[in-house]
Amino acid sequence: MNSKSLNAKWRQKLHLEPPIGWLNDPNGLCWFQGKYHVYFQYASDDINGGVKKSWGHYQSPDMIHWEFTGTVLVPDIPEDRDGVYSGSAIVKDDTLHLFYTGNVKEKGDYDYILSGRGANVIHVTTNDGHHMSEKKVVLKNSDYPDYCSCHVRDPKVWQENGIYYMILGARTRDDKGCVLFYRSHDLETWEYEKTYDMPKMGYMWECPDCFMVDGHRYIGLSPQGLPQETEKNQNVFSSGYFLNCHFNDNFSGSFHSNFQEWDYGFDFYAPQTFEAPDGRRILIGWMGIGDSAYTNPTAALGWQHCLTIPRELSRLEDGTLLQNPMKEYDSLRGEKMTLKGEQKILLPFDLTAQVTGDFEIVINNSLTLRLQENMFYMEFNDRSMGYGRTIRRVRTKQCRDIRVIADMSSIEVYLDGGRYVMSTRFYPDEEHVLIKADGINAELYKMNGMEVRINGE
Ligand code: FRU
Repeated sequence: MNSKSLNAKWRQKLHLEPPIGWLNDPNGLCWFQGKYHVYFQYASDDINGGVKKSWGHYQSPDMIHWEFTGTVLVPDIPEDRDGVYSGSAIVKDDTLHLFYTGNVKEKGDYDYILSGRGANVIHVTTNDGHHMSEKKVVLKNSDYPDYCSCHVRDPKVWQENGIYYMILGARTRDDKGCVLFYRSHDLETWEYEKTYDMPKMGYMWECPDCFMVDGHRYIGLSPQGLPQETEKNQNVFSSGYFLNCHFNDNFSGSFHSNFQEWDYGFDFYAPQTFEAPDGRRILIGWMGIGDSAYTNPTAALGWQHCLTIPRELSRLEDGTLLQNPMKEYDSLRGEKMTLKGEQKILLPFDLTAQVTGDFEIVINNSLTLRLQENMFYMEFNDRSMGYGRTIRRVRTKQCRDIRVIADMSSIEVYLDGGRYVMSTRFYPDEEHVLIKADGINAELYKMNGMEVRINGE
């Protein structure tokens, strides 16, 4: 491991990054034996990700002090030889059970959609979060319904009333996204229950999630193939949740077509939720996205991408979910200032303000955050600073407040109590940035960084 790159320019202080190489989806998020565990899609030897992903592993007692324990799951059996793909964790009898997709690409002339690809659900256990048991295949392509293509993946497992459930994301043979539900009594034998799909919701649903907030059920997913529009699904792939899903024990129920995007920024995909020990539902996303036109200058320095700040979810009466930075991050706040007009400040910072009308916040004369007539814009007015990122918008019914968390190379914006969120990577030349504010008075906190120890490679 090149220790120099850990102190390099643009290294984040509030976000988890790969020590070296590539990161994508968060995996296996959980609280186990007094620690948070954050696994992630990792390719330490391929700055562009490649195919053969592994799982990297971070752990923390408090979300602020982190330890990277190394690469803990690698493709080393025939059933996962082309990648230890995304998956999830569940605690049972003081053991952590991990489920992931073992990706297999047969050699030959295949389209890898209808033929040539294996997608196995693989189960491993661990008693400390990083030493893994033997791998066991619990589901393979022949166990999925006939109408599924070879794209079936990203198991998310949870427990309800003593029964274990699994949701998988899939693509049908006629190019519709869908989710499959399975049920188990022991985490080893899984029975197929039900498929849900929806017209006009893309060709593939990745990284599904099924969770409760305040006793209400939600299905989250990352659909591919939704048409990109000016105010909706602005990125190449989308990510969001269905409002108010209802299931009975036998999985009959309703699945609403009201799809809400999690994040309207440039860099967000494949989030996963888990329950903190105090019952909060926490969401972490990949602050990046596949197949996009943007680049990240850190790639030239040896690493690429990070995860979002963990976000607490809460529910409004109409089912809308609010996302706000986990309150643990408040403990990193340092000196407080008042921003009026113009100010130079050292990254990272946390800005909060009440909003009373249209306003504009410009960072380094290159990135503009603007509310104008109920539309919020995030725009790289100096296009070269966006590395391919240009403009994103969200229509705000109302916007009474804003919070901006700026790290060394990213900005996350939370509007109206967390009803709208926008995330982007942002690569300023220096650690000091110039903020200009017009139409808004903000409080500005200097932020202390998290403590991250890198063990393993
Ligand atoms: C989403 C995804 C998942 C897959 C993983 C592979 O970004 O494509 O569906 O399991 O990444 O890294």
